[in-house]
Amino acid sequence: MSERVLVTSALPYANGPVHLGHMVEHVQTDVYVRWRRAIGDEVTWICAADAHGTPIEVNAGKAGMDPAAFAEKYRADQRRDFERFGIAHDTYYTTHSPENRKWAYRIYDALKAKGLIYKKSVEQLYCEHDGRFLPDRFVKGTCPKCGTPDQYGDVCENCGTTYDPRELVNPACALCRRPPVVRASDHAYVNLRKPEVRAVIEGWVLAEGHLEAGVRAQVSGWLADLQDWCITRDPPYFGFPVQDPEFPGKFLYVWVDAPIGYLSSAEHHFAEEVAPERRLSPGAFERAWLAEGAPARLEHFIGKDILRFHAVFWPAMLWAAGLKRPDRMPVHGHLTVNGEKMSKSRGTFVNAATYLDAGLDPELLRYFFCANLGPGVADLDLSLEEFRNRINADLSNNVANLASRVAALLQRAPGPVEAAPDAEIRELARRLLDEARADYGRLQLKAVVRCASEIAVLCNRRVQAGKPWENPAGEAERVLLWSVAKALLAIAMILRPVMPRFAGGLARAFGAELPRWDEGFDPFRGPVEVREKPPQIARLEAKQVERLIAVAPEAKPARVSAAPSPAETATKVTARPAPVPGVIGYDDFARVELRVGLVRAAEAVPKADKLLKLSVDVGEAAPRTIVAGIAQAYPDPSRLVGLRIVVVANLEPRPLRGIVSQGMLLAAGEAPGLQVVTVGEGIAPGTRVK
Ligand code: MSP
Ligand code: ZN
Repeated sequence: MSERVLVTSALPYANGPVHLGHMVEHVQTDVYVRWRRAIGDEVTWICAADAHGTPIEVNAGKAGMDPAAFAEKYRADQRRDFERFGIAHDTYYTTHSPENRKWAYRIYDALKAKGLIYKKSVEQLYCEHDGRFLPDRFVKGTCPKCGTPDQYGDVCENCGTTYDPRELVNPACALCRRPPVVRASDHAYVNLRKPEVRAVIEGWVLAEGHLEAGVRAQVSGWLADLQDWCITRDPPYFGFPVQDPEFPGKFLYVWVDAPIGYLSSAEHHFAEEVAPERRLSPGAFERAWLAEGAPARLEHFIGKDILRFHAVFWPAMLWAAGLKRPDRMPVHGHLTVNGEKMSKSRGTFVNAATYLDAGLDPELLRYFFCANLGPGVADLDLSLEEFRNRINADLSNNVANLASRVAALLQRAPGPVEAAPDAEIRELARRLLDEARADYGRLQLKAVVRCASEIAVLCNRRVQAGKPWENPAGEAERVLLWSVAKALLAIAMILRPVMPRFAGGLARAFGAELPRWDEGFDPFRGPVEVREKPPQIARLEAKQVERLIAVAPEAKPARVSAAPSPAETATKVTARPAPVPGVIGYDDFARVELRVGLVRAAEAVPKADKLLKLSVDVGEAAPRTIVAGIAQAYPDPSRLVGLRIVVVANLEPRPLRGIVSQGMLLAAGEAPGLQVVTVGEGIAPGTRVK
């Protein structure tokens, strides 16, 4: 029975480009959506950029942009990067839309009508200099428990204690570094402890099929201590103004309208983006997809960090508005890179564009993620070495080489081949096709990938033993080659959602189009004819995958707004040639923060004959470490000490030879004649260059 499903992935903040952590979620969802479609379901996949909240408002301000325009810019970048990865959302809308505004007010009004909203005065840290209340991530101070300095206002990274930002020792505003004060303000709270609300949440959490067992246990733990939820924020804020006269001047908290963005983006899609005969009015859309008892499933894919918003608050919001609750909520863990949390300051942060610009095929990463994903919340590590080994062993050798050898042998006796299948190969392929189908349903993507591998392993073993190259026209050899070609179609069928391009090419090579994946699908019928060369998968080399963390995204020609300096060019050994620079607008230039830096110390980097490590005062609390490829021009690094140089101060940090460089310096000329750009003594460190 075919089903109608509305699938969503979490809405990335429109506060930067998408990174490989986002990709885990969108690959998982994309594979699931493609599988559902392959078995005949009607799936609509909704995503959008999450445009609201304090960080976007602050960063837009820093970039001198209007927050709506700022969010739009990143929405466009995100959408493009997703497309380049073969991620095919049906819509990639925005939460800053008229539809979302309408839905957000409707749900607020529904909560209010049910008597669930009340007013409470809350004390928070407030920065008098910046004129704003400080969200947890905008306060830094010393952990009250273990004394580690420079911790955020919600949790200590060292000892893991969570606290109220008011408990921090020596708190400082993360924007201006000044000490904040405590100030009270009235806010709207949703009463979640009311028995009827609690019953709705609990009922949803405990019902079979909504959450994976481990996740369900975790969420039920939270229910024991259910806290009411604050849903308003003070200005300055980028979001929807609350329209309730009881809360003048307040804004809706971003986490209220963000999940509502799933619904409004879907409404927008059906109203405007589908073929005219499929278009739905808002009312018809709601009846068909969202109303209680609507004949459609609602499934949300999310990461573990946003579980509370989705599994506790969201079912209550939907219920209050008379809408159906989600039918399923798969939760995944976090991506780490080489065993470390993705982090800008540690240099393990990889943008999706960085991967693509390194010349790597997105289908390889899709495969690797699936090979490491199950239905649980375990974290997933992108170890560069494992990535390479896995692709080389599973895909290059086991599948792609097998396909080319078999295709070449079949071509030595031309014409369509038809035979009775080899029993062993056929049995295994049929069994694993069924298993893979069930594994997809359970989101056991590791097991899916293993099914494909196992078939290939058997085929390789049989080809090795049968030596069909000795007499490709012989009867037994032809049966074997035909059977392996058919088994490769089974592999293509299994891998199609994971690697659509590769799987399609594999099937076409042996003269087939992959059909719908109906129950009992049997590829072992009909002739095989080699029509084209099977797609190859080149072995990955170490230096190719190392580009992922050796080249920071800002070093990419397409993303650079100011001309790259020779210092950068010298260290960017693996980058490809820059295209002719295009004309940029002033806004682009203004995004580059150039500052005067006073060089305090300079030394050679061991075993790196081009690099120097500098300690540079750019007017901040502590000097920055900057690694620059200028050693050949400055054999005596002490010559640099005391110079006032120009530093790109808002460049993402990146590791060079194990040292995280916190900026880039400007220089002109080529080594050994290269010179760093300097200014005279009258200009103080930290002065902006413009
Ligand atoms: N805007 C909110 C989501 C609103 S949904 C109504 C948000 N945005 S996010 O950009 O921070 O994260 C979007 C999704 O990406 C989340 O599901 C999050 O778990 C996931 N990931 C972000 N970093 C990740 C990793 N390093 N690894 C895997 N997924 C991660 O939260
Ligand atoms: Zn401040």
